[in-house]
Amino acid sequence: MKEKIEEIVKEIVGESIKNIEELERFRIKYLGSKNKIKDLFSELKNVPNESRKEIGQLLNGLKNKAQERFDVIKNELENSTSEEFNIDTSRPGDPIEIGSRHPLSLVRSEIIEIFDRIGFTVSEGPEIEDDWHNFSALNFPPEHPARDMQDTFFIEKGENEMALRTHTSSVQVRVMENEKPPVRTISPGRVYRNEAISARAHCFFHQVEGLYIDKDVSFADLKQTLLYFAQEMFGENAQIRLRPSYFPFTEPSAEVDVSCTICNSKGCNVCKYTGWLEILGCGMVDPNVLEASNIDSKVYSGFAFGMGVERIAQLKYRVNDLRLYSENDVRFLKQFTSGI
Ligand code: PHE
Repeated sequence: MKEKIEEIVKEIVGESIKNIEELERFRIKYLGSKNKIKDLFSELKNVPNESRKEIGQLLNGLKNKAQERFDVIKNELENSTSEEFNIDTSRPGDPIEIGSRHPLSLVRSEIIEIFDRIGFTVSEGPEIEDDWHNFSALNFPPEHPARDMQDTFFIEKGENEMALRTHTSSVQVRVMENEKPPVRTISPGRVYRNEAISARAHCFFHQVEGLYIDKDVSFADLKQTLLYFAQEMFGENAQIRLRPSYFPFTEPSAEVDVSCTICNSKGCNVCKYTGWLEILGCGMVDPNVLEASNIDSKVYSGFAFGMGVERIAQLKYRVNDLRLYSENDVRFLKQFTSGI
């Protein structure tokens, strides 16, 4: 009996166990319901009385040894970095959550695609801007009250005045400085204004501004381009109307409304029963702006427009609270799956 026990001790120590399957085989052999050690226990009754106690202790020791080896190897395999040991192929699979694109990103891409089809390139520029590109080159004189229209976040006051850009018109100045006309480009990007955060206003939002400069560009070209955009974005029945407005960098300037897509212009609380929704600002580039970037305003003319991406998304997805776009609430974000 003693010899048998010693033999099994050697066996237990000598078993090579390299993976979960081998460990399971070990468990069945030495610790399972019909294991080898149990067989020996059942033979204990045949052992003479005087040595039964000693053999019983040896058997218990054997059982503990098997359990110990099992625990040690199990622990090793579980902590092993090798994938082979860790994959439990019997576990049911967890479904992988598919991410979705942010609604602003979807709308931004759609705007870019619409203008790409009529030859507009995409230009980008810095979010921290100097006074020249955000204001002066755009015909805002130093003390012009129009600067107050933009509640600016200034970063450094004084000589090297820097600010977070209040619109992406600043990118268009950079394009005009670096490229010769004809220029046909849109500049999407994030802009900042010092506004109290509410459902209707935020301290940052996203714009897409457009610029077209060539010989003989007219207001009719502007109107037609914007009508094309409105119909691509909101459907072929969409109509636009222009109301006179003011921007320092365009003359004449206009604000553009699109016919209410929600009630088909019948009147609803989104369009405040007017049948129209304001979507963008636009105008003919002021000759002073062309000259500031060394473009001859007697030879070239151009139009510009600017829209808020949140506003377009609001109309497309009927999301009325601007704050939702930046709160990163997955329950909100995962509703927008189109266009992946
Ligand atoms: N830059 C203007 C704004 O941020 C929008 C605009 C762009 C208006 C181009 C007219 C022409 O409000």
